[in-house]
Amino acid sequence: MVKAGQSMVKHALARTYSTKFPDKKAVLAFFEPSTRTHKSHKQAALNLGMRIDEFSGAEGTSLMKHESLADTARMIAGQGADILVLRATQEGSARWVAEVIEQYGHQVTVINGGDGRNQHPTQTLLDLLTILEKKGRLDDLHIGLVGDLANGRTAVSLIQALKHFDNIRVTLVAPKGAEMLPQYKAGINIVCESESMEALRDCDVIYVTRFQLERITDPILRQSVQGKYVFNKKFLDSCQPDVIVMHPLPSVEEIAADIKHDPRMVAFEQAEYGIPARMAVFVRALLDPFQGLGQWSPDRDLLSESREFPIAADMKPVKFFQPINHGTVIDHIPSGEAINVIRILESISCITDELPRQLVQHVHTRKYEGQKDVLLLPDIMLDPISAATVQYIFPEITVNEFPGNNIKVKRTYKVPSHVEGIFRCPNDSCITNREPEAISRFRIINRSMTHSSARCIYCERDFTHYQLLMCLAA
Ligand code: NCD
Repeated sequence: MVKAGQSMVKHALARTYSTKFPDKKAVLAFFEPSTRTHKSHKQAALNLGMRIDEFSGAEGTSLMKHESLADTARMIAGQGADILVLRATQEGSARWVAEVIEQYGHQVTVINGGDGRNQHPTQTLLDLLTILEKKGRLDDLHIGLVGDLANGRTAVSLIQALKHFDNIRVTLVAPKGAEMLPQYKAGINIVCESESMEALRDCDVIYVTRFQLERITDPILRQSVQGKYVFNKKFLDSCQPDVIVMHPLPSVEEIAADIKHDPRMVAFEQAEYGIPARMAVFVRALLDPFQGLGQWSPDRDLLSESREFPIAADMKPVKFFQPINHGTVIDHIPSGEAINVIRILESISCITDELPRQLVQHVHTRKYEGQKDVLLLPDIMLDPISAATVQYIFPEITVNEFPGNNIKVKRTYKVPSHVEGIFRCPNDSCITNREPEAISRFRIINRSMTHSSARCIYCERDFTHYQLLMCLAA
């Protein structure tokens, strides 16, 4: 795609392209302020001879009357659109809207024009195009990312793209409280993390970002970041002689007046590369339309082991509960957590609060030298998804099924690939916490007895199973 963007540079300068798309319509839905991203998409569409419809801000739309983004997207698709460029405040908005439109039966390519703190993929494309044009390569580079690495989306999108190139070294410079989340740092060579601009002197590219005051709520952080990083001639003179300074813009105070016209400061050219980059994206979308997100299908075959025991041989004196002949016993639940097991099963509608159950808490167990909870569910057989979900949260449990013919079946489950609808996303700015129709879904990245992480498929944030457990949906 970067190469495709590069081949569009001459067409962008000529403000035209050999192929025109007069019957194709781009809807530019910018529900958050934008100058460059909005206008460069518009110019890209004009260069390609497309029809355009646009929104600048939520004002003037029924979003102000609390219409959902899903319903707004259904209207936009229904009125005819081939491409929808969406900028919205909630993280995961673009994915959510793409899903809604696809379910509604329309083929519209949804382009993420920036969704909250999450991603800004076309900005990354123009950033890479700028680096390629200015440095002649995308490999063998030392890149410094500086500023608001926690709340800005451009740096996190860029660092993820940089993972695809060879011998990239990254220096991260941010004040405490605005550091990049660990999940984005995995898989790339971070050579230095610092609060000080001094760490950037050896960089080939310095990528500066603005503090996103609209997303920083902590008053102390808001105050402390004012004037924190200002790039001026004196500083650039102390850096690598061929350094370039990039900035996605808008810049507030990060670029001093004495480098506004300095050839090392390329932020304005960088913004101009937004037009060829977006022309390339549009042409790709129109000539080779995206086939859709595809429906996610729940896991099959989650059972990993199943062993049968005759009950008589396995019987122990039972002090605390009535043994059951038919149903399920979830044993070795961490002490005090049986209530959460019940809540998980209720939220999957596997059990309801009318059904009988025996909950035994804080039983002494010799096996783990501590206490455990036991949950007995007479006449209930857990389906594999429910059982695997509970075992994902509490890997130490054992699931014993009593089918009724004097045998006990001990079952172990695989970690499910996704967990859907059980936990609210812990990120308050995730689209799933705003849209009434949205159902949360997390992709399980890893799970062992000690480590866990699950990624929200919408806002793309990683959470531990503890964090998810705190957000059990009501
Ligand atoms: C950025 C954005 O909106 O994410 N700008 C841009 O799209 N060119 C950065 C910012 O707002 O600071």
